[in-house]
Amino acid sequence: MAHLLAPSLLAADFANLQRDVEMVNASAAHWFHLDVMDGVFVPNISFGMPVMEAIARHAQKPLDVHLMIVDPDRYIHTFAKLGANVLTVHEEACNHLHRTLAAIRDAGMKAGVALNPHTPVEAIRDVAQDLDLVCLMSVNPGFGGQSFIQRTFAKTKALRTLLDEEGAKDVLIEIDGGVGTGNAQDLVQAGADVLVAGSSVFRADDPIKAAQSLAQF
Ligand code: DX5
Ligand code: ZN
Repeated sequence: MAHLLAPSLLAADFANLQRDVEMVNASAAHWFHLDVMDGVFVPNISFGMPVMEAIARHAQKPLDVHLMIVDPDRYIHTFAKLGANVLTVHEEACNHLHRTLAAIRDAGMKAGVALNPHTPVEAIRDVAQDLDLVCLMSVNPGFGGQSFIQRTFAKTKALRTLLDEEGAKDVLIEIDGGVGTGNAQDLVQAGADVLVAGSSVFRADDPIKAAQSLAQF
């Protein structure tokens, strides 16, 4: 499968959000990545439901929603109603991950699990059959524009092996944080299926061109 590019709107110009959403619509990117933060699970607050509702009104590509919030079970149905296609929760934020993943699928979405840099890929082995996407955080979540943690390459390979061992070959591996032209190809080579890119798309001189070079190689 060719890889997918999911620009993170966290790096968009929030005063020109419609313009930036339409830029992604017109670009070679495949998904929108939406970073929802609560100021508790991560030391930052980004945006929530009303902003997502506004984004969904203009977005013409699937919405990949990354919840960096505690107790995400409370909001599964809300995000389904808002139009999320993929809903990703943090392994570190779920006491009953198996149940949470089932609830996400029951609500009609693809179920994703994000792992912080310190969380070993083994944490998802026993739910490998119950999820659709694993998001490896290649920075500590909470902020855009941080530098990529090199260890993620080894982790991506280890996760690919684990998913193969568990007969979960269709599970997508997503890499989130510090992705750009300097590491995108190597990440796909290592087994990544979805590349999230915030700064390297929206802060580029020509975002359309940047999206093109990260989406197709
Ligand atoms: C970090 C977010 C990322 C972030 C990536 O907490 O999950 O999606 O927007 O931004 P860049 O690509 O700038 O590292
Ligand atoms: Zn994210």
